[in-house]
Amino acid sequence: MKFQFHEAPVIETERLRLRPVSAGDLGDWMAVWRSPGVIDYLIDFEDLPQEDMGREIIEWADGIFVEGSGIRWALTLKPSKAMIGSCGFHLFDRRHHRVEIGYELHSDYWRQGIMSEAVRAVLGFCFDRLAVHRVEADVVEGNAASAALLKKAGFSLEGIWRDRVYKRGAYQSLWQFGILKPEFHALHG
Ligand SMILES: CC(C)(COP(=O)(O)OP(=O)(O)OC[C@H]1O[C@@H](n2cnc3c(N)ncnc32)[C@H](O)[C@@H]1OP(=O)(O)O)[C@@H](O)C(=O)NCCC(=O)NCCS
Repeated sequence: MKFQFHEAPVIETERLRLRPVSAGDLGDWMAVWRSPGVIDYLIDFEDLPQEDMGREIIEWADGIFVEGSGIRWALTLKPSKAMIGSCGFHLFDRRHHRVEIGYELHSDYWRQGIMSEAVRAVLGFCFDRLAVHRVEADVVEGNAASAALLKKAGFSLEGIWRDRVYKRGAYQSLWQFGILKPEFHALHG
């Protein structure tokens, strides 16, 4: 058995509302992926996605919640209800108290501290409500924005997986980041 919530919790931060992704978010999520620069470093995207791929990703988000291995939240900037990005965790490992996180934001909203706010909230959820001890993040080599965000959030660069993914006709290495529960609480309280 993995974790069990009847429905994915809604999380409020100062500027954001994180609510479960639903089928009605397809159009907004497509707009996020289609905004300049967003898919360049996303591991599973070769080209701009078509709607069927968008639907598959929403099904994946539903599926990880149902099987208790993750939650993907839609990010909305209060008071708007429109989705401007997503953030969440997956690969919840109950035995080893470990998860992996992922996120992306519409490029119109970059460099305003929005994803830092969302990642902090998701980390707080993982460490405090799931009793996770370790959170991991894999970043395609060269993704300076994501690496800087993670370092600012308290993650350490722990290693490099050489040629770990095949994207756009070439092998790409991944930077592996991690943060432990005491490190998170020392930094964020
Ligand atoms: C990575 C991403 C989510 C960052 O979101 P964001 O809301 O713009 O990030 P923040 O404003 O919270 O930035 C936090 C810190 O990261 C660093 N940073 C963010 N964007 C950066 C950029 N383009 N270049 C260099 N550093 C950057 C900065 O140090 C920033 O702090 P500062 O603004 O106080 O200097 C966004 O660029 C994105 O969606 N990229 C495409 C998808 C992606 O790469 N997802 C992650 C896959 S691992």
